[in-house]
Amino acid sequence: MSKLQFTKAFTQQEPIPEAAKQRVMALLDSGRLHRYNTVGAEVSDAALLEQQFAQYQGRKYCLACTSGGYGLHIALRAMGLEPGDAVLTNAYTLAPVPGAIHAAGGVPVLVEIDDHYHLDLADLEAKAKSSQAKILLLSLMRGHIPNMDRLMALCSDLGIQVLEDCAHTMGGSWRGVKSGNFGQVAAFSLQTYKHLNTGEGGLVVTDDADIAARLIMHSGSYMLYQRHGASPPAEVFEKIRLTSANMSGRMDNIRAAIAVAQLPSLDHNCQRWNRRHQILSQAINAINGLDIPARHADESYVGSSLQFRATGLSIHQIPDFIAACANQGVELKWFGEAQPNAFTSRYDSWHYIDPMPHLPNTLRALEKTMDLRVPLTFDHDDCRVIGAVIEQVMLEFTDN
Ligand SMILES: Cc1ncc(COP(=O)(O)O)c(C=O)c1O
Repeated sequence: MSKLQFTKAFTQQEPIPEAAKQRVMALLDSGRLHRYNTVGAEVSDAALLEQQFAQYQGRKYCLACTSGGYGLHIALRAMGLEPGDAVLTNAYTLAPVPGAIHAAGGVPVLVEIDDHYHLDLADLEAKAKSSQAKILLLSLMRGHIPNMDRLMALCSDLGIQVLEDCAHTMGGSWRGVKSGNFGQVAAFSLQTYKHLNTGEGGLVVTDDADIAARLIMHSGSYMLYQRHGASPPAEVFEKIRLTSANMSGRMDNIRAAIAVAQLPSLDHNCQRWNRRHQILSQAINAINGLDIPARHADESYVGSSLQFRATGLSIHQIPDFIAACANQGVELKWFGEAQPNAFTSRYDSWHYIDPMPHLPNTLRALEKTMDLRVPLTFDHDDCRVIGAVIEQVMLEFTDN
């Protein structure tokens, strides 16, 4: 049989909605790109985004800032992290997550994951006790939402505050509660491959007025904090405005306008991702030697990427398998790869974490894990072709 070839790029995004283009042109004409460049009671695009995202998410306060990683960094500070404090976080995450802990002066304490890519609660408990950490930065990496009831109950017993990293779960939920509404604080990314695409950008939400005020001050509000779209009353700032350092990471109006224009389509787009994810999962699950860990019925995830395990291959075969898929146009990443590559790196490549723990369960869970991007620029037939390519390649490997 001749080799199937997939020809679309895995890195292409959908066009930004027309409404954004019009608003951005008006902003460019005005030259008023800075979020505090407002006249009278005017609401800037950045403030509007904060209002609208707080409403979408069902949280009291929202801060728009420069990136998801920056949002995590200042969230840790706003939650009271002191230099040298331990912060628990998943060993399966992206480099900006331990990086945010490091930037805030904290010490990352990496926690094992299980075979479903969720935080291992027994290890969490053990590490919480041994490290005395008071904050868990829960990274919902690649959109895998664990049993949040059990996780939050354990953190409450341990006296740990939770900061949710929702870079991959915007629009997702656990038992009907939106991801990002469990912890004291949650941060979202608007980086180009995320569920709202502004190139770069971040949103941080909380219901805690003191934390919200500190977040806003840290983001670089100067004394213009009352121009924010979803912020606590002025008296809350009185307590902290002179003691919260300005760490300059403001959102600008152009990116905010681009996000505002996409927000009305977010839930619909999540469904579109899920339909593509479903087609791909069915195809991949039917292939001998490939396996997708089952998801819990209470988890409503957003299928903007797909992870599967090549259980039928040896670790030594995996680079050739990836190369063969790439030859036929299908781009896979490998979470088990020893060398950091493009966006992906295994926890043990973050050498500034000292001492580096050995995490056998995480290494085992990731050693054969492949990662597939599911952009909305792929249609359903594209997903079927991708599934067929992977099947064809896998057959070559298992026939040999
Ligand atoms: C899991 C995870 N958390 C946090 C971030 C940081 O987001 P940003 O790139 O907006 O700083 C990313 C970035 O891709 C991510 O994948």
